[in-house]
Amino acid sequence: MKIFSKISDTTSYIRQQKEDGKTIGFVPTMGALHDGHLALMKRAKQENDLLVVSIFVNPIQFNNKSDLDNYPRVLDKDIKLLEEIDTDVLFAPTAGEMYPEEVKKQYDFGALGDVMEGANRPGHFNGVAIVVSKLFNITIPHKAYFGEKDFQQLAIINKLVKIENIDVDIIPCEIVREKDGLAMSSRNARLTTSQREAAPFIYKVLQNAVKYAGKKSVNEIKKWVETQFKDKDEFGLEYFEISDSVDLQPITNWNETETTMGFIVVNMGNIRLIDNIRLFNNFAASNNGNK
Ligand code: PAF
Repeated sequence: MKIFSKISDTTSYIRQQKEDGKTIGFVPTMGALHDGHLALMKRAKQENDLLVVSIFVNPIQFNNKSDLDNYPRVLDKDIKLLEEIDTDVLFAPTAGEMYPEEVKKQYDFGALGDVMEGANRPGHFNGVAIVVSKLFNITIPHKAYFGEKDFQQLAIINKLVKIENIDVDIIPCEIVREKDGLAMSSRNARLTTSQREAAPFIYKVLQNAVKYAGKKSVNEIKKWVETQFKDKDEFGLEYFEISDSVDLQPITNWNETETTMGFIVVNMGNIRLIDNIRLFNNFAASNNGNK
């Protein structure tokens, strides 16, 4: 595996590989790799000649300083995992290399950027978009792989490549879960033993919400989810939203949209856990040609 920390070395190596006819599959990460990341990488390796991974804890996407300070950083361990799956290139820059000057760019993602993570983490998606756009310029991939756990981030990246006319295929990959259902996340490593034992409850609530979807009203399900977390001290429900799967805007009635999803964020102590689930397919809407 080639390990680069400089932008120019990374780009010139990858450009040469492309000139030699190789296809490039790229997986951007912030490190603390887990099986969810490795699933994206294995797929990228299978579908391309070269697997390129980046590890960079991007300071400008954190709206909370303690979340940034506490974000796990385990580069040596990550490098071993990347070697085991035969990664071709690792790009692991410093913040100074990525941001030699203050970045002032402001993206406008419209309504997509105003809900859920956009509303609750001001500046987060702007920071994600800036770094991902830079990483695409540096690694010039044919395909880039993103997990559906961060479903809204995936929608933002799809919009970003349109805004910036970036020539890359964005490949969405299903959420990878622990055996007990907890969505894999680098933040899970910071859960205490008792928090870790309790955490699968989040996915259980989502699964039960699926059972009620289309039978109870949208509002009843939202209320039901809120009640589930109310008396549980270890969980702080930040939001549960029921939204259209394409524009991610909240709905009030199942008939409004074709595919409806549930989006949840729960805080356990100062650890923020995010998850989502497909709730309901409204076949009548698809047949009527509704959105
Ligand atoms: O999903 C992540 O790990 C990050 O938001 C990303 C896409 C690597 C950008 O820093």
